[in-house]
Amino acid sequence: MSNRALEVVEFLLTAHLYTEDRDLDENDLPPRYRRVFWSEPEDDDGDDEAESNVVGIERPLVVTESVARKATGVEHPWDAISDLLFTQQEDFSGRLSLTQPEMATEWYLDRADRDRLETNPTIAAAVETRDDVDVTHAEAREQTRPIQADRVWIDSLLEEYFDEDEDGEMLDLVQVRAPEEIEMTLDDLVLTTDQEGEIHKLMQAIEHREYLAEIGLREIGKILFVGPPGTGKTTVSRALAHELGLPFVEVKLSMITSQYLGETAKNVEKTFEVAKRLSPCILFIDEFDSVAKTRRSDEHAALKRAVNTLLKSIDDISLIRDEVILIGATNHPDQLDAAAWRRFDEIVNFPKPDTQMRADILRIITKRMDITEFDPEAVAELTEGLTGSDLRMVFREAVLEALTEERTTLTQQDIVEAVEDFEERDNLKNMNMMSDGDQLVAGDGGDDHAHDHSHDH
Ligand SMILES: Nc1ncnc2c1ncn2[C@@H]1O[C@H](COP(=O)(O)OP(=O)(O)OP(=O)(O)O)[C@@H](O)[C@H]1O
Ligand SMILES: [Mg+2]
Repeated sequence: MSNRALEVVEFLLTAHLYTEDRDLDENDLPPRYRRVFWSEPEDDDGDDEAESNVVGIERPLVVTESVARKATGVEHPWDAISDLLFTQQEDFSGRLSLTQPEMATEWYLDRADRDRLETNPTIAAAVETRDDVDVTHAEAREQTRPIQADRVWIDSLLEEYFDEDEDGEMLDLVQVRAPEEIEMTLDDLVLTTDQEGEIHKLMQAIEHREYLAEIGLREIGKILFVGPPGTGKTTVSRALAHELGLPFVEVKLSMITSQYLGETAKNVEKTFEVAKRLSPCILFIDEFDSVAKTRRSDEHAALKRAVNTLLKSIDDISLIRDEVILIGATNHPDQLDAAAWRRFDEIVNFPKPDTQMRADILRIITKRMDITEFDPEAVAELTEGLTGSDLRMVFREAVLEALTEERTTLTQQDIVEAVEDFEERDNLKNMNMMSDGDQLVAGDGGDDHAHDHSHDH
């Protein structure tokens, strides 16, 4: 019997059991199933937006071929199960269902391993008392990502909070990522011992937050990442969200302070509201230094108000109470005033990588590349002062350069040359910043255009 049948039967059984058992909620459905049963908020031409726009998942869960295909990835769901005795397809509606759920349960339990059952709280709830089953409902719930981390949930929440016409600008200010959408994980990053320690501490704090609340320890969960551009502050924060299975709410502070936004203070408040509604989640505030700048200078009153709202919101939010982890990031620690520093209970340094770290980063970057006589240690020696982001750039250039010669295998020499090119470009860029740029005309060094390598988006 093929695995495809197992996929489809599991789906049908889950839909059936969920429909029957009213005690189950959305978090009992595996995320891949939730997605297909999610119904959009209805547009009830109303002004009463705030009340029940998050519609969610409604019973009964009706399974058609296309729904089953989407949930299971099986191309022809009915074909996969049509020869089983306990399944049927209704002629008229095309609906798939179980004629004998008990038989389907037996069939499923004969074939599903522990890992499978462990990620399906709905089925676990129905069978946990049986002798031949050693997975409990509680265990399966524990293994299953909460609905707050699902893209559908995040979208409906954003829609509810930020009216597109009114708050179009808001979408530039905040970005929310579902953990599944984050590509780089902690394994792809080379961390200092200090960074590893802090991350571990944070994960422990999250796990034991009830205990921490009990003993009255509340000053945790607000961390500031400090370091030059390209040292992994953003990537580590996102990877953490991925690792913990939490939504990642990202705010760019320069968006608040660089331009006049009509309702900025209100939008800052909304951002924190969204973070609280998405909790548990990570709220990442990038370019934290722009806050301090605004406070010092003679800025527009509306901006000052926005910044004060921000600082107050930071004070008010808590890992223990709201289940929101706050991570701030800055390239310019020298520009932060005492008021900003004081709001974080841990500071984590993101230095430029040393030789050993560079060699490790190089090994990660090149994991899937084909390079003859590659010597990461030697390249690390050559790249003093370069960040992880710079190293990525060097390799991108080396790869593209080789492609112009139709080569997909690189040599150590290609890389050494790419490092030299990079350094030359970097020098040009610095010159460009100091002069007015007029001296830099075509032909003086092969620099195509000055790259801004501080961002990876
Ligand atoms: N320690 C590292 N290990 C592996 N890769 C790294 C490391 N640091 C940086 N990188 C690479 O550089 C890219 C850019 O890093 P990232 O955007 O996280 O830097 P940042 O510190 O947030 O910079 P900025 O201050 O400009 O926002 C990452 O996507 C990653 O590929
Ligand atoms: Mg960043």
